[in-house]
Amino acid sequence: MKQSKQIVLITGGNSGIGLALAKKFMENDNTVIITGRNLSKLQAVQKDLPKIHIFQSDVTDDAEVRMLVDDIDEKFGGIDILINNAGIMNLVNAGNESNDLQPQMQEIEINYNSPIRLLHYFLPQLKKSKNAILVNVSSGLAYVPFAQAPVYSGTKSALHFWTKGIRPQLKPHHIKVVELLPPVVDTPLAQGADIAQEDNLKPMPPEKLADIFWKDFIKGKEEITPGISKQLKLMSRLAPNFIFKQLNKQAIPKKIKE
Ligand SMILES: NC(=O)c1ccc[n+]([C@@H]2O[C@H](COP(=O)([O-])OP(=O)(O)OC[C@H]3O[C@@H](n4cnc5c(N)ncnc54)[C@H](OP(=O)(O)O)[C@@H]3O)[C@@H](O)[C@H]2O)c1
Repeated sequence: MKQSKQIVLITGGNSGIGLALAKKFMENDNTVIITGRNLSKLQAVQKDLPKIHIFQSDVTDDAEVRMLVDDIDEKFGGIDILINNAGIMNLVNAGNESNDLQPQMQEIEINYNSPIRLLHYFLPQLKKSKNAILVNVSSGLAYVPFAQAPVYSGTKSALHFWTKGIRPQLKPHHIKVVELLPPVVDTPLAQGADIAQEDNLKPMPPEKLADIFWKDFIKGKEEITPGISKQLKLMSRLAPNFIFKQLNKQAIPKKIKE
């Protein structure tokens, strides 16, 4: 596993886990490109990390992703590592008929459809690389659904299954497929969820997550399950009903964004 001098693209790299991963790859002498929708957040990151490359690009916008592919091809000659990290989590009460449907559809578009889109358009560049790796950032909730975020949980388990399905398909093309399944991590995404109150679900600092990821990544591990995600994986097999109940004592979210 090559650890340095790689060209790494991280979607949603201006915040949280994506940013912590970006710093880790940069510390290890890689060229890092991050994307996001919010240009001022990207520029703020670049002010702190002048060597990082930023592109304003929405993963759900087909034309923007194709433009990103062309820009990267022109400036860097392609990528070696694609990290599908961009994601959102909506707290939803599915029992409320006055819910706005659009944010739920957008959640599927960002969390599940877009990793498929990104791989589709970056496939030619990955095939050209001698050390190609695709990293999908799903979630420990891919093993056990979190009722307060039902659409989110569905997208993450779909991403998990897609990742497993494409791994043997990309092998003949020498593209390694890695999945990072984070536990609760202290980022803006996790801050609204009541789950963070629970003692054994104390959010992990993003820097710690990036350290664990890096150790497993350079060992060549395919499924990286930091913190509680490892237990969620095991318990989802040994006692699925028990672990579901444990995780979902409060099924209806108290803090839904208006
Ligand atoms: N935090 C956790 O507890 C946790 C646990 C398990 C898995 N995860 C997963 O980890 C990943 C990163 O989440 P995080 O916790 O680091 O959240 P975060 O701090 O809120 O970061 C999310 C990132 O995604 C970007 N993004 C969102 N929609 C986008 C779009 N349409 N196009 C491009 N970029 C977009 C955001 O940038 P812009 O807003 O500028 O677009 C931001 O950079 C997500 O896939 C999440 O599901 C998080």
